[in-house]
Amino acid sequence: MKVGGVPYRAIFIAGDQVTAGDQVTAGDQVTAGDAGTAGYAGTAGDAMDVRVIDQTLLPHRFETMRLESAADAARAIRDMVVRGAPLIGATAAYGVALAMRADPSDASLERALTGLGGTRPTAVNLVWALDGARALLRGLPAAERADAAFRFAARLCEEDVRTNRSIGGFGLELFREIANRAGATVGGAGRSLNVLTHCNAGWLATVDWGTATAPVYRAHDEGLGIHVWVCETRPRFQGAGLTAWELGQHGVPHTLVSDGAAGYLMSRGKVDVVIVGTDRTTAAGDVANKVGTYPLALAARDNGVPFYVAAPSPSIDWSMEDGTGIPIEERDPEEVTRVRGVDDEGVERRVRVTPEGTRAANYAFDVTPGRLVTGLVTERGVCAADGAAMRGLFGR
Ligand code: MRU
Repeated sequence: MKVGGVPYRAIFIAGDQVTAGDQVTAGDQVTAGDAGTAGYAGTAGDAMDVRVIDQTLLPHRFETMRLESAADAARAIRDMVVRGAPLIGATAAYGVALAMRADPSDASLERALTGLGGTRPTAVNLVWALDGARALLRGLPAAERADAAFRFAARLCEEDVRTNRSIGGFGLELFREIANRAGATVGGAGRSLNVLTHCNAGWLATVDWGTATAPVYRAHDEGLGIHVWVCETRPRFQGAGLTAWELGQHGVPHTLVSDGAAGYLMSRGKVDVVIVGTDRTTAAGDVANKVGTYPLALAARDNGVPFYVAAPSPSIDWSMEDGTGIPIEERDPEEVTRVRGVDDEGVERRVRVTPEGTRAANYAFDVTPGRLVTGLVTERGVCAADGAAMRGLFGR
């Protein structure tokens, strides 16, 4: 995807054009060159410069951050410099590679796997990426591990891009069907297809394209008139700060609403389809996603609005049936009692919105039962959110 007209990925190996300290202001023309593809062949050389976009600064500032060690990668995941299930997995894979470059011993491998594995509990992509790295690296002589780990991470990133493109294709077909049913025009005059999404399941949450946003970008690029209702997504505002920013960068028409407005919009016929991402979908089709997703699914069901989940296969936890078993991350209550933003003078501030000392709880995810999900949009196609349909699609 593009930032100021320049192709970027949410995690990348910097080419010569991107050097330490490259900074641009969000919205400005970025002159860092094509940062999205350089170095993806993967070599374990000391110069391998693993970069991520610092998402804690968006939408007010666009800066990339260099990850130099597994500890850097773990910190980036825990502090949500990077976030979103697929990107968490990709960052963890590079974290292991950085550990192997520093010290390819068994002890170092175990330390990296444990440190990275303890960062965030809900997204199963983290476990998936680390299990893959462990299986590959344990059997290799130490001298070969760094190179293999970088190649593994690069391959995982490329697979993520392919997977999301494919989700985009299937989602686009779905959007066309819904548009035809709703009477929305395809590329001509008349009203747009109204899509509602929550949190950020966009390209910033993945390596590229996003999951829930992949069909949106495909539809927009192919001229299907599309408009996105973006839920702000308290408490960290991934909708307001990240989804609105990336849709804006791509020129997709969108409107920000408070989370509580979604039910009203649906009851007034202003939403044709809801599509969200997932951090973990169980083998029976229950979906953990950013807190606030479950009430959206309830409102969608009550109003006859189709509710889809963009679910790449690394987000499916085949070892778990019942969604009540999914570990739900609880984060710092200050994320609820404080908000961060820019004042009218352009100064970044963090302010308290509650009476001093108010007790708050910060549940980061909720679980939507599969029965409320119209379908899962996967890289293999669309299926019902139930065990039989999922096993059928994935041949398990
Ligand atoms: O806490 P976050 O920002 O990591 O939560 C992200 C989400 O809930 C996304 O919807 C999910 O990871 C899918 S991202 C393609």
